[in-house]
Amino acid sequence: MSDKNTVETSEAEIAVHWKEEEYYYPSPGFIAQANLTDESVFDRFSLENFPDYYTEFAELLTWYKYWDEVLDTSDAPCWKWFRGGQLNASYNCIDRHLAKNRNKTAIHFVPELEDEPVHHMTYQELYVRVNEFAALLKETAGLKRGDRVTIHMPMSAELPITMLACARLGVIHSVVFGGFSSSACADRVVDSNSRVLITMDAYYRAGKLLNHKAVDDEACELAEKDGQKVDKMLVWQRYPGKMSSDAPLVEGRDVVVNDELKKYYGARVEPEKMLSEEPLFLMYTSGTTGKPKGAQHGTGGYLAYVTAMSKYIQDIHPEDVYWCMADIGWITGHSFIVYGPLALCASTVIYEGVPTYPDAGRSWRIAQDLGVNIFHTAPTAIRALRKVGPDEPAKYDFHFKHMTTVGEPIEPEVWKWYEKEVGKGKAVIVDTYWQTETGGFLCSTVPGLQPMKPGSAGPGVPGIHPIIFDEDGNEIIKGAGKAGNICIQNPWPGCFQTIWGNRQRFVDTYFGMYNKDPNSKDWRDWPYLTGDAAVMSEDGYVRVLGRIDDVINVSGHRLGTKEIESAALTVPEVAEAAVVPVNHEVKGKEPELYVSLKPGYEASPELVQKVADAITFEIGKIAKCRNVWIVPDMPKTRSGKIMRRVLGAISNKGDVGNVMTLANPEIVEEIQKMVG
Ligand code: WT7
Repeated sequence: MSDKNTVETSEAEIAVHWKEEEYYYPSPGFIAQANLTDESVFDRFSLENFPDYYTEFAELLTWYKYWDEVLDTSDAPCWKWFRGGQLNASYNCIDRHLAKNRNKTAIHFVPELEDEPVHHMTYQELYVRVNEFAALLKETAGLKRGDRVTIHMPMSAELPITMLACARLGVIHSVVFGGFSSSACADRVVDSNSRVLITMDAYYRAGKLLNHKAVDDEACELAEKDGQKVDKMLVWQRYPGKMSSDAPLVEGRDVVVNDELKKYYGARVEPEKMLSEEPLFLMYTSGTTGKPKGAQHGTGGYLAYVTAMSKYIQDIHPEDVYWCMADIGWITGHSFIVYGPLALCASTVIYEGVPTYPDAGRSWRIAQDLGVNIFHTAPTAIRALRKVGPDEPAKYDFHFKHMTTVGEPIEPEVWKWYEKEVGKGKAVIVDTYWQTETGGFLCSTVPGLQPMKPGSAGPGVPGIHPIIFDEDGNEIIKGAGKAGNICIQNPWPGCFQTIWGNRQRFVDTYFGMYNKDPNSKDWRDWPYLTGDAAVMSEDGYVRVLGRIDDVINVSGHRLGTKEIESAALTVPEVAEAAVVPVNHEVKGKEPELYVSLKPGYEASPELVQKVADAITFEIGKIAKCRNVWIVPDMPKTRSGKIMRRVLGAISNKGDVGNVMTLANPEIVEEIQKMVG
């Protein structure tokens, strides 16, 4: 545990004293059409009935062969769900819908430029294109079941096509968020041993055409230096000709997908019959070390879970037009743009660009024009939309029946604006609490059954049994008004299976704190540690307060403080680096960086810029720090530990507390003067 925990905990304690909010109730009209209104679900999904209740979720899918066992615990805590069952994710998201719905829109792709047409892709077209691209992956790239592939693509219709083609072949995809830098992409190529990288030439972001292929040329170079050669780069061309002069093709390595596909027109590829427990994808996420970890998600458990969550919590019906504003490069996009909605045969919207580009009404125009009726976004976007255009939603003719918020705590006043202005007082809201690792939701209200409470996620979703422990592993009972570590008592099918290539880190990070017997095969001995602090009120509703580890939640995305610090330390002049979270009006939190220099170097604006550039290079713009402060020394304990808690208090203009026990108390005032 680092001293940063103290920052989070003291914040947590304050937050506990927030006033409890009133309930909001779903309208009778919503309840009348909801997918889940039968209260007996809570009895059926009680701990006594675990794990068999999860077969209800698995039954939502089409299986080639049913499972031999619901939950295999023999390799605890690497659980195997629906062991022995066989299925294919691409078949479940496409083929099985064709008989009745081939002409239905699967994907509405909305380009950022408003003069480019929206592409309404039917299930039939998705089927054809996924098959053809799967043939290309197999023949041109030589990929087969179990291989890993890194996909570094912007938001586009071709991104889900690429993922589903991989799933069809049993190739494990690792999608890297398009905004990540070449270096971040290279790290993921190396860790997953991908010999194939799939990219796109270019895309628009805030009205600017970005050369994306050039980023991946650099990623290939960096990966090769690190021991992983990319021998094929598959390049989707969105704007043929526009960018090619800036990022020429590399002979023997680069394949232009658009041209190569001509060889495979009309090709059909049989879906692989995957074992339920075989991996579907990796999703890298930040943790407490300098390098992100690959969360490995399985096929049957994951797909069953996200399909059920899409049906019962998102309340998606096949006739709905559903828009989740997340990026597919994060877990939200995987589960709730691609796999969940498509498994339910819904129409899912993919928007390329910035929600407020070119003006504050853009999002609402998209909703109006496509007839979106289910809307899913993060508090950071809600705050931004509210800030730039609080009265914009009223100007457009759209009607949401259901809205989601995800990724970070939402302030009650922001929740209320969302409900009143965006939901126009008619939509239910679910505040869904979960993580990259958990595949799908942990806590949320069931929209047709449970009232909402602004600022609280809600109780565990059916089947999830949360518990709050104190540091010693004693349960903090609900209503006690005390924060603790939120854990999940039972395994669930959406949970990741392990950290790619590092089982020990998986066991230590997620189960180490509360497991008492590492040899136990009983799931009851392995509560899952989320890494969040939370309070549970009398009614069982959970309010998540924030991370207890070295992770900062920026705009609903996770950044590791160690990752940013490691990036700063690549600058030769830097001796020490410490990152602290500062509060931000729109992003929730923002990182702020303190560095000290090696002897003989002096602070200068150029050096500040050099450190900032190193962070953009190593991670991407998303890790941009509010400030880089070059300080004469870090506040330290007598044993030499950097006191991040003190730096955090300085950055947030809070109380630094008693600093007299530090090795260098005088530095605190000096830094305070500097930061102002
Ligand atoms: C962390 C996970 C889950 C998809 C997006 C983020 C925080 C997530 C909520 C919520 C309060 C939330 C937690 C969690 N978080 N949802 N509804 N209320 N906090 O995935 O990048 O893996 O981050 O986001 O701190 O641990 P992620």
